[in-house]
Amino acid sequence: MGTLHYDFTGDVAVVTGGARGIGAAIASALAAAGARVHVFDACEPEFVVPGVTAHLVDLRDADAVRAEVDAVLAESGGVQLLVNNAGVTRDAPLWKLAEEDWQAVLDVNLTGAFRVLAALAPAMREARHGRVVQIASINGMRGKFGQANYSASKAGLIGLTRTAALELGRRGITVNAVAPGLIDSAMTAELPSEIRARALEESALGKAGSVEDVAATVLFLLSEAARHITGVVVPVDGGQLA
Ligand SMILES: NC(=O)c1ccc[n+]([C@@H]2O[C@H](COP(=O)([O-])OP(=O)(O)OC[C@H]3O[C@@H](n4cnc5c(N)ncnc54)[C@H](O)[C@@H]3O)[C@@H](O)[C@H]2O)c1
Repeated sequence: MGTLHYDFTGDVAVVTGGARGIGAAIASALAAAGARVHVFDACEPEFVVPGVTAHLVDLRDADAVRAEVDAVLAESGGVQLLVNNAGVTRDAPLWKLAEEDWQAVLDVNLTGAFRVLAALAPAMREARHGRVVQIASINGMRGKFGQANYSASKAGLIGLTRTAALELGRRGITVNAVAPGLIDSAMTAELPSEIRARALEESALGKAGSVEDVAATVLFLLSEAARHITGVVVPVDGGQLA
């Protein structure tokens, strides 16, 4: 699959949750296209790629996020690309959902994204340029049994995306969301087989997507080709929502 025709030479990117899965595919594709990539993750990356620097940072820690963003800005002189990708699930039907599990998912998926975006926004506003992509989910565009916390966090991320697009647009910054359907990754490897089978039944294409499928759309939205697109949610779901 071709993502290499994009040229991000000279751009500096922050990719959260880029140690593995979808985030690792995005970080690797951006680095292959010439960007200098800073991965913010609570875990060490599972891969080594030239052009990718790992930062151990837990997005639940507001002070740590700000310190790491400031360090990257000071070292690089500016960050043009942000991909808010880190995400977690703690599934349970809402009558069994502990408040701690509600809070943990909201804190990483929504507040974590807010923290990084808010920390980078002043520098992007000053530079009058920026590209932001937030990894939501089709389950933030519909309800999903057992995912009240996750679905609410991703719906919130879509709200944050649309408002940030309005607030930052006049300074040349675009903010979009990508909403994956079922993608083969560590997050979905443990899914019960009947849940996976139901997702495949929903899919127009009848198959799960790959992490590269998501990365390809993210790179498009970060590229000059998408410069007039902002405030939208692009499903990458093989037609699961169709
Ligand atoms: N895999 C799918 O089917 C699917 C579908 C829809 C949306 N998504 C979304 O795509 C994104 C990536 O998912 P994935 O499948 O690659 O998951 P994954 O679990 O493989 O990767 C998530 C990454 O986020 C990091 N992370 C988790 N909590 C963190 C924290 N507090 N601070 C810093 N980093 C943290 C993890 O360490 C991990 O590297 C997530 O936002 C997920 O909700 C995935």
